[in-house]
Amino acid sequence: MKVILLGAPGAGKGTQAKMIMDKFGIPQISTGDMLRAAVKAGTPLGVQAKDIMAAGGLVPDDLIIALVKERISADDCVKGFLFDGFPRTIPQAQALLDAGIDIDHVIEIDVADEEIVSRLSGRRVHEASGRVYHIEHNPPQTPGLDDETGEELVQREDDKEETVRKRLSVYHEQTKPLVDFYQQLEAQKPGEAPKFTRVAGVGSVDSIRTQLFEVLAD
Ligand code: AP5
Ligand code: ZN
Repeated sequence: MKVILLGAPGAGKGTQAKMIMDKFGIPQISTGDMLRAAVKAGTPLGVQAKDIMAAGGLVPDDLIIALVKERISADDCVKGFLFDGFPRTIPQAQALLDAGIDIDHVIEIDVADEEIVSRLSGRRVHEASGRVYHIEHNPPQTPGLDDETGEELVQREDDKEETVRKRLSVYHEQTKPLVDFYQQLEAQKPGEAPKFTRVAGVGSVDSIRTQLFEVLAD
């Protein structure tokens, strides 16, 4: 099964992706996590991406498309995968189509902008695994520490309010048009194009997970 999770920064893509990955046995492919790892390791890609990410902009399409193509050729992607944070522009979505990669589901997790800023200010992450917490809505068992490894949680550099607002505006300009893109594709080729579903991203993490599992079980 091949799935795309669409949604604004802080919509809950990463949170839900971890649960889908466990339930359906497909790897989560988060371009954001991959880029953060590249920045940390100081690879050529990381060097190019660092300042763009810190400013809340998008890394150039050609770099992202090459990164994703390489990742999905790995053995663990044979049964499918879950894209989290990709595609994020029309050219990225078009590259998937051109490569003949048949996506089964595109799911938009829909959250209003006002909710996003508060969510991201309370977010804490475990850097090595990409596991995500929220100090109030989804706290770790021990404050400040990852449930599985006991390692320290950190705040993402791009979660400052000013950068969050920039990421939101980039989202509306460049990523939100993908909703129309996939809806039109489905209207043109029903049954063949990916199935588009919008899920409200407000409510408990568990209730959203239940809705996503229902869509994917279809
Ligand atoms: P990326 O890492 O993809 O960031 P993003 O899309 O901005 O999304 P986030 O990770 O911020 O949010 P999320 O939806 O995963 O929410 P989460 O589950 O963590 O990208 C980072 C940067 O990399 C980009 O800005 C760009 O520069 C670059 N990049 C990445 N991909 C790219 C691409 N394809 N092309 C070009 N550039 C690219 O949840 C957020 C918080 O809310 C958490 O604290 C969580 O605990 C909490 N929460 C989750 N669900 C709920 C709920 N139901 N109720 C209350 N709180 C909740
Ligand atoms: Zn994420």
